[in-house]
Amino acid sequence: MRTKIIGTGSFAPARVVTNDDLAEIVETSDEWIRTRTGIGQRRISDGPGTAVMAAEAARQAMENGGIGPEDIDLIITATSTSDYCFPSTACEVQGMIGAVNAVGYDISAACSGFIFALNAADALIRAGMYQRGLVIGADNLSKIVDWADRSTCVLFGDGAGAAVVEASREEGVIRTILGSDGCKASVLKCQSRTMGNFLTGDKPEPGYISMEGQEVFKFAVKKVPECIQNLLADSGTDLKDVKYLILHQANYRICESIAKRLKVSMDKIPMNIERYGNTSGATIPMLLDELNREGKIKPGDKVVLAGFGAGLTWGASLVQW
Ligand code: UT7
Repeated sequence: MRTKIIGTGSFAPARVVTNDDLAEIVETSDEWIRTRTGIGQRRISDGPGTAVMAAEAARQAMENGGIGPEDIDLIITATSTSDYCFPSTACEVQGMIGAVNAVGYDISAACSGFIFALNAADALIRAGMYQRGLVIGADNLSKIVDWADRSTCVLFGDGAGAAVVEASREEGVIRTILGSDGCKASVLKCQSRTMGNFLTGDKPEPGYISMEGQEVFKFAVKKVPECIQNLLADSGTDLKDVKYLILHQANYRICESIAKRLKVSMDKIPMNIERYGNTSGATIPMLLDELNREGKIKPGDKVVLAGFGAGLTWGASLVQW
């Protein structure tokens, strides 16, 4: 059995926050943000949390795939910003969409999360344990961003993307490679908000995203092309036979540098960072949904999905549509 993506969906909160809006709260400018990152605006939630966004993306993916919630037997959500410590976002989504026959759980791999979740669903479906799953990437980073830190707050946005995957005799997810390097955990992190107990006396403190931007940049431009090259070599696929490299949207310059290293033109690397910023685990499925809905990916096309992020983690998946 193989795992085929049969439907996609996405959701972004209605509220648009422009670079000029941010220039009113921190010392920055539209020019700096655009030239250093490619971001023009982002969507910030003033209401819906992670699960609501994820559920909406899931509903759209099910509609796109022509299936109902009762057909789903597996829900895996990749998120770093679950609304609750427990229950999981996947269980919340299950309740919201009425997927009564499913089992749901979350995966934490930050911006690489969607690839990790897709890999888990693929392995379980190949093993014959499940037939039809929802793989979701959803993040509400605006609630863990330090809105006084201009080096991070201009980068992120909120959103969710989802894919319906189904057991199939046809080729689908061809191969996935994942990696992590916990020695670099401190480079990009957000401390948990509730710490300590009556023995330690520590008071709960809010944790915010902190990042050594250039370290992440250097890691991404080296690791992602390497990972894609290994993925293609392992699966005997030529890069010229891949229609799109659907990359995590963290910085336009990172994607340009990856294109240069792989010697491909930016035509092969679709971008939507200008409109949404970095929505962490949601960037890849949101972009995938956009391309799918625009009819840019046709049956038989091969695409590579690739992400990187906190952990540090990275991963790439070769998928035949
Ligand atoms: O999903 C994965 C998570 N994150 C990433 O992938 C991010 C990876 N890193 C990056 O994208 C880039 O490193 C950043 C966009 C975060 C930063 O770009 P950079 O070209 O590496 O800039 P920098 O950190 O070297 O900062 C350059 C200057 C500094 O000023 P000085 O020291 O040269 O005077 C910063 O203080 O830009 C300043 N700066 C800003 N200026 C205006 C930093 N943030 C801002 C800002 N507006 N928002």
